[in-house]
Amino acid sequence: MKIMVVGSGGREHAIIKKLKLSEGVEEIFALPGNGGISADAVCVNISATDIESIVRFAKENGIDYAVVAPDDPLVLGCVDALEAVGVPCFGPRANAAVIEGSKVFSKNLMKKYNIPTAEYEVFTSAEEALKYLDSAPIPTVIKADGLALGKGVIIAQTRDEARAAVNEIMLDKKFGKSGDSIVIEEFLTGPEVSVLSFTDGKTVIPMVSSMDHKRALDGDMGLNTGGMGTIAPNPYYTAEIAKRCMDEIFMPTVNAMNDESRTFKGCLYFGLMLTSDGPKVIEYNCRFGDPETQVVLPLLESDLLKIMMAVTNGTLADTEVQFSNKSAACVIMASDGYPVKYEKGFEISIPSDISESVYVAGAVKSNGKLLTSGGRVLGVTATANTLKEAVDAAYEKVSRISFKNAYYRKDIGAKSLKVKESK
Ligand code: AMP
Ligand code: GLY
Repeated sequence: MKIMVVGSGGREHAIIKKLKLSEGVEEIFALPGNGGISADAVCVNISATDIESIVRFAKENGIDYAVVAPDDPLVLGCVDALEAVGVPCFGPRANAAVIEGSKVFSKNLMKKYNIPTAEYEVFTSAEEALKYLDSAPIPTVIKADGLALGKGVIIAQTRDEARAAVNEIMLDKKFGKSGDSIVIEEFLTGPEVSVLSFTDGKTVIPMVSSMDHKRALDGDMGLNTGGMGTIAPNPYYTAEIAKRCMDEIFMPTVNAMNDESRTFKGCLYFGLMLTSDGPKVIEYNCRFGDPETQVVLPLLESDLLKIMMAVTNGTLADTEVQFSNKSAACVIMASDGYPVKYEKGFEISIPSDISESVYVAGAVKSNGKLLTSGGRVLGVTATANTLKEAVDAAYEKVSRISFKNAYYRKDIGAKSLKVKESK
């Protein structure tokens, strides 16, 4: 089979490496991929949001199956467009991708179907939002309605910070039309858990749970980033909590989407907070998480393509989805200065014996050399019998990879190891 994967990050590299092991896969194309992905797939220089060119490429090249990985093409209707020309896809149609594409939609969905989440108000006028903030509980959380490159959530510790956020999003239009509406919501506390799941709209199969490390600096300090590392499984996510999440969140969400005639097929990502009041949804994503995928898929023992096609065909209930009992850790190596300002164009050296555990996010190939080209450059994953061994092995591999101005957090997994010790 000829497979096409839309996207260009570490997540897409992890999906491609896993698909290579699937039965019946002959050729994989990445649109656009990146310099590192080119070792595992044929990279085609078509942007992930250029739907017209993606569809043309699929038709002209006889693509048998497409995986649309990033949020933007999903929200823009890439799956709908590919299906219209007969290319089966993994990923939700636009009417279901709205669960990530509009925070107003997802909050209203949760309210209507009694799915636990933070209390909230929706505003379409800055004036009303500012008036509300005069008496809102502080800290408070301001969210732009639409996609905002992962930067549309502001945790305001003071009323002035909250007002500034409303002004930036609604009046200065920092995120364009994504800020026409905003959600102002209750600030929740508790450990965060990412649960990615496969769903065909009838069955939900959660993947192994994971924990992202979003802040740039050790000790969860510094700015929010796209993710500086992940571990799996998440030690806070016990079997008891998993059962509650299935009954109170996962199935109700999938059923709610059906009731709204927006059946969700693909990877539904639940960003959860385990509050003293039970697990609550912080966010839904309509796709695999990045860098969660880089720890979750290495632990998958079953055939990924078979699972994906079962999701498309609605036969997930009859399909084997087995995860190993091991642990995994992924450390992101970034360019120093990320997420603000950084230099690029530096040569990356990766010893060949560990290249299978490296998922490249931001690099280009130039004259046979791999050069840094992004803020997050690559992720290095290790799996082992225990989390401690996985973390140590991931850092051992990191120590053997080099590029100028490399920066990485030194404490990925540290919090989880403490939780495990205290149990
Ligand atoms: P997001 O950009 O949607 O991934 O959100 C970024 C981060 O903001 C989340 O991972 C949480 O740590 C935090 N966050 C979002 N909503 C809330 C909330 N209601 N209460 C506390 N923290 C939140
Ligand atoms: N790691 C968080 C996300 O993919 O949105």
